Amino acid sequence: MLDTPLIDAYLLKLFRFRTRAFLHMEDAPGTVPPLPRGSPGYLYVHIPFCEVLCPFCSFHRVQHRHSQAERYFTALRREIRLYHAAGFRFTGVYFGGGTPTVEPQDLVMTINLVRELFGVTEISVETNPKDLRPDVLGPLRETGVTRLSVGVQSFDDRLLREMDRYEKYGSGAETTGRIRAVAGMFPTLNVDLIFNQPHQTLASLERDIAIFRGLGANQVSFYPLMTSPTVERRMVGAMGLPDQRRLRQFYHTIVQRLGREFRPSSAWCFTKRGQGIDEYIVAADNYVGVGSGAFSYLDGTLYSTTFSLAGYEQRIAQGLTGITTCHHLSDTDRMRYSLLVRMFGLHMDEAAVRAQHGAKFFRKLWGELLTLRVLGAARRDERGWHLNERGMYWLMLMMSAFFESVNNYRDAMRAHVNQELHEPTTMCPPIGGTLSPAPAK
Ligand SMILES: C[S@@+](CC[C@H](N)C(=O)[O-])C[C@H]1O[C@@H](n2cnc3c(N)ncnc32)[C@H](O)[C@@H]1O
Ligand code: SF4
Repeated sequence: MLDTPLIDAYLLKLFRFRTRAFLHMEDAPGTVPPLPRGSPGYLYVHIPFCEVLCPFCSFHRVQHRHSQAERYFTALRREIRLYHAAGFRFTGVYFGGGTPTVEPQDLVMTINLVRELFGVTEISVETNPKDLRPDVLGPLRETGVTRLSVGVQSFDDRLLREMDRYEKYGSGAETTGRIRAVAGMFPTLNVDLIFNQPHQTLASLERDIAIFRGLGANQVSFYPLMTSPTVERRMVGAMGLPDQRRLRQFYHTIVQRLGREFRPSSAWCFTKRGQGIDEYIVAADNYVGVGSGAFSYLDGTLYSTTFSLAGYEQRIAQGLTGITTCHHLSDTDRMRYSLLVRMFGLHMDEAAVRAQHGAKFFRKLWGELLTLRVLGAARRDERGWHLNERGMYWLMLMMSAFFESVNNYRDAMRAHVNQELHEPTTMCPPIGGTLSPAPAK
């Protein structure tokens, strides 16, 4: 009765309404933000270069050019030093993109710098199937990478062709062989897969899950295909558009097929029981994003850096960070954000949120918490709130709505620097310079 498209639509509408102000960004000075209170956070490093630009991709990425990428890495290292000099400390670092392994030597140099400055113990790096080579991965292992994440998307050759990845990154069988060959090389080996692709059938999804389980990888991030107006325009010709009515069945299949061997570590990340670290950087109370098109969240303020690569280099040369916009979330929005990211991570510790927000957290968000209870999405015990499978599905929907609002923001920001990114002029116009509705990338 509750698991109906009508309830899904109602919840999504309510969620979008409640979070509509999250990304109302304003101009920000480019100086290093104030040091946040509390424990050291996470560092996110964005590398926006790729060999091919996949039509479905919603991230900030450009065609890889060696000389530009070299200059970019030099600027990145300068920006990282700036945060260190200002007193920032991090326990972990996440290199995302784009494709961080496009310049392996520069990547290793940057990882070494982060280790030297901050003594990080968790180092996560994204890559593509083609870069699973000894000359790329050997140095990454030596430098202490603890988690390697490979973008596969599907093992189905038809879908890979539609995604324009078959030629460049190899067939499903080739990718399977490459992943098997590197399994065990890093403490965590994650595979990214996308479900609800327009021409994906249930049988094709089940085959992807079965192949994944035979790889020896110990983590999978199963993303629902997320779009934005710009992404949709690119996808229409190449691969069609997703049908949201299939989401529930696809998601249920994933959870059921992975369930025994893999525990959910967020609503879309599943880790082999007893192993691995999670991809879930947004759950960190504070994180700093460096590079072009990166987000930071510090003491309730969201920051974004410039999407112009030339602009980024200039700002760094002037001794600034890449930050160009920010938004101070209201008290209630900070609590809503906390609720979203914690529940997406499946558990919310009551003592931790009370320490962070005070007892008012429960007064202000009583409606949201009551909804979780009434819909049977979560149970509460003496430690806090725990999401069940039904709740995981709704949180997956909400997180994708949140990321889609980030995609809208990226579209608008990238439209300003269209020529520089060599994108076809199908961008939507910026929404009056300001934006309506997050973040890891
Ligand atoms: C930034 S990419 C890094 C991986 C690497 N560049 C590659 O594609 O092989 C991280 C992951 O985001 C996911 N992703 C990108 N665009 C997406 C979209 N529109 N919807 C859902 N997931 C998406 C893909 O699974 C991808 O592997
Ligand atoms: S999916 Fe990966 S390779 Fe494709 S454009 Fe996005 S970041 Fe680049």
